[in-house]
Amino acid sequence: MKGLRPKEANAPSASPHVVCPFYVRPMTGGDLEAVAGIEAENPSPWSPGQLAGEHAQESGWQFVAESSASGQVCGFVCGRSLVGEAELLKIAVGRECRRQGIAAELVAHALHYLAAQGVGHCFLELRATNLPALALYERFGFRRAGLRKGYYASPPEDAILMEKIVFSAQL
Ligand SMILES: CC(C)(COP(=O)(O)OP(=O)(O)OC[C@H]1O[C@@H](n2cnc3c(N)ncnc32)[C@H](O)[C@@H]1OP(=O)(O)O)[C@@H](O)C(=O)NCCC(=O)NCCS
Repeated sequence: MKGLRPKEANAPSASPHVVCPFYVRPMTGGDLEAVAGIEAENPSPWSPGQLAGEHAQESGWQFVAESSASGQVCGFVCGRSLVGEAELLKIAVGRECRRQGIAAELVAHALHYLAAQGVGHCFLELRATNLPALALYERFGFRRAGLRKGYYASPPEDAILMEKIVFSAQL
């Protein structure tokens, strides 16, 4: 698990948007506005109300990646667990923060959390053309488990279902 990095890594970078280093922590109610802003950048975004409802779910789990330099929330992941199975519902990283390993860290953190909870399987679905997300999940050993034709709207698209057996030894 990536933690805080040495202090020199916090030196100002060429881009004001580069947020590394970062760390992953549980989402709080105070993060919801920032999370809604990240979510709004993507197709079929959840509304702030939906995000707040998800955050209140008893079976839900949510983590954010926060810049340790600025405190900015730069990504989040959320899902639900029930009787040994979990579904990863959403993951997103702010556009200006992508390709820095933030989503990978969020997935790794979620999988460690699920393994510690004794979850055996994790499922998810994604738009069939979402190649960055597909590559991310395949990197973590998620396997294609099915296709839901025309599952998504706005724009209409098939959903790929993916599954991973969650064992701490595989993380
Ligand atoms: C998908 C998403 C979460 C990836 O976030 P990210 O922080 O940029 O991803 P990371 O830097 O951690 O990359 C981890 C892996 O994901 C894959 N990946 C991420 N972005 C990619 C891209 N643009 N093209 C190809 N592969 C990509 C790669 O396998 C990468 O590993 P690598 O760096 O060793 O090649 C981000 O693009 C996003 O928020 N997209 C919009 C929301 C979304 O589509 N969510 C998924 C819905 S199911």
